[in-house]
Amino acid sequence: MTMNIAVLPGDGIGPEIIKQALRVLDVLKNEGMDMTFTEAPLGGQAYDQYGHPYPEFTQNICRAADAVLLGAVGGPQYDNLDRPLRPERGLLGIRKDLGLFANLRPAVLYPELANASTLKPEVVAGLDIMIVRELTGDVYFGQPRGMRTNENGEREGFNTMVYSESEVRRIAHVAFGIAMKRRKNGQKAKLCSVDKANVLETTEFWKEIVIDVAKEYPEVELSHMYVDNAAMQLIRNPKQFDVMVTGNIFGDILSDEASMLTGSIGMLASASLNATKKGLYEPSHGSAPDIAGKNLANPIATILSAAMMLRYTFDNEAAAQRIENSVKTVLAAGYRTGDIFEEGMKRVSCSEMGDQIVAAM
Ligand code: IPM
Ligand code: MG
Repeated sequence: MTMNIAVLPGDGIGPEIIKQALRVLDVLKNEGMDMTFTEAPLGGQAYDQYGHPYPEFTQNICRAADAVLLGAVGGPQYDNLDRPLRPERGLLGIRKDLGLFANLRPAVLYPELANASTLKPEVVAGLDIMIVRELTGDVYFGQPRGMRTNENGEREGFNTMVYSESEVRRIAHVAFGIAMKRRKNGQKAKLCSVDKANVLETTEFWKEIVIDVAKEYPEVELSHMYVDNAAMQLIRNPKQFDVMVTGNIFGDILSDEASMLTGSIGMLASASLNATKKGLYEPSHGSAPDIAGKNLANPIATILSAAMMLRYTFDNEAAAQRIENSVKTVLAAGYRTGDIFEEGMKRVSCSEMGDQIVAAM
């Protein structure tokens, strides 16, 4: 069956990094893997062409695709647009439209890059965490929301934090499933659910449902942590965690924190999956407008996102590992883009990094 992939380059460095990921996928295509790529705009790029960050043209292509590969969205030229027209709304729109409720954000520290972290190498060496963030609920989408004038005549802003039982159940199942799959040689699978159950009813409810779902996964050791403590523990001793599961807003914050433990956000991939394994795959970093168009960006996070796509949507573990091993080979050989450069290494551009990874494939 043909693998039907929508490609959304987006803004800033998006087009440059997507180009390198497509070159890597082309290696597999030329060997006979049946893939088609269909390009469409998202974010600022889409606003420029269609007057909307997630226009119908892009909706149709993404709805018909098996998977979506995205570069990045956003740029300073769009900051003053009305909120519904801003690039970020394109991203929130596609998540909701495709039902991409499960956001997987791995934070992995490659041994070659142990010095890139601002934390002591012994604290982060060998780090391998998976953050499972709920992506289509919580205060991000809860109604009512807005700005208004209250009865005292004072203006106020308000949002609604809300989770339904089915929303919590389905993300809990995804997280327990991932914890089981990641179980390493005889060790018990571990899952930490992050909440603020001491203050917020929404997350007290979250915790209750996660505990109920846990009955179906006796092999997994479930723990619970308040989000403030989790933020602290991630810095103090991040290797105590394996898989973490949390709601949309806490996951947004903790995943940025976890990514910086590795010191190289340019290396981190992500996947956002729906109930039928359709997925949106994108680097965890942003559109980096300051270096856009200069062939300086690190394409590795996007290339690793393509590997996640092969793993999670197309169930092709071998092809995913082949891409991941090619990245490791190139790092071991000393090639570095500017963001991860160290004395004594070979500094390469975005496209040269692509050349090296294609050659390693
Ligand atoms: C992310 C980003 C988005 C989010 C923004 C750009 C809407 O921070 O993917 O983590 O808050 O989800
Ligand atoms: Mg974020």
